[in-house]
Amino acid sequence: KQALTITKLRKMKQNGEPISMLTAYDYPAAKLAEEAEIDIILVGDSLGNVVLGYDTTIPVTLDDMVYHSRTVARGARHTFIVADMPFMTYHTGKETTLRNAARLMQEGHAHAVKMEGGAEIAEEVAALVRAGIPVMGHLGLTPQSVHQLGGYKVQGKLEKEAQRLVEDAKALEAAGAFAIVLELVTEPLAEAITSSLSIPIIGIGAGRGCDGQVLVYHDILQYASPYHEKRFVKTYADIGTTIRSAISAYVSDVKTREFPQQAHAFPMEQEVLLRLYG
Ligand code: KIV
Ligand code: NA
Repeated sequence: KQALTITKLRKMKQNGEPISMLTAYDYPAAKLAEEAEIDIILVGDSLGNVVLGYDTTIPVTLDDMVYHSRTVARGARHTFIVADMPFMTYHTGKETTLRNAARLMQEGHAHAVKMEGGAEIAEEVAALVRAGIPVMGHLGLTPQSVHQLGGYKVQGKLEKEAQRLVEDAKALEAAGAFAIVLELVTEPLAEAITSSLSIPIIGIGAGRGCDGQVLVYHDILQYASPYHEKRFVKTYADIGTTIRSAISAYVSDVKTREFPQQAHAFPMEQEVLLRLYG
């Protein structure tokens, strides 16, 4: 199967073909997602929460992103990979933004980068696009700004907020972004933004009207992600419980000497041992 391109992605929107996107942070997850024919893999900075154990995405570094992105790229050689630009790697001028994004592509082997924010980062987005770096936008609940936003809450309920979101989405499209993630936005607003723009809108907690959906790997698999229920997540397996009971069974087998059995052990000639130990 050929990897997706940003041209094909736009065609999918035109044809009304839903776009599937899932995060992955390492080789096995990427391999399984590719085998399951996901359209886009996102190496999200949510790895800060679900892989590195931080409370927010703010401590995630560019080195973290490069490291995880390259492991993902090894597992999914035929899938379009987007890597997140982490906190404060794109707000200090075009020059640093360009160099940081370039690392995600050259060392992380990503095909595109994702950045949180709207009109205020439009110039950086345009500079990356001019340099040949495809940019995915990210609006609504932008976790890198959680302390500024005052928590993880639904965005765009008030008219002023909604107006700002609409303008930010337009600004990103004008700057050359190839797609936008809308996170925790009311369904009607997400739907209106989706039909007013020609670039694909990929929702997470943004309802049914978007061109595609993205969720976090650890959330859909219940893979030891933070254990609060999220309304916008659908879980497809309970890997956390499966793994925990498997490890318990192993611990118990070791303690009771149930494991290993003869079948797991390597024999040798008795005489050789006798010569050694008499
Ligand atoms: O980091 C991430 O996983 C994301 C998605 C939630 C869109 O940015
Ligand atoms: Na992210």
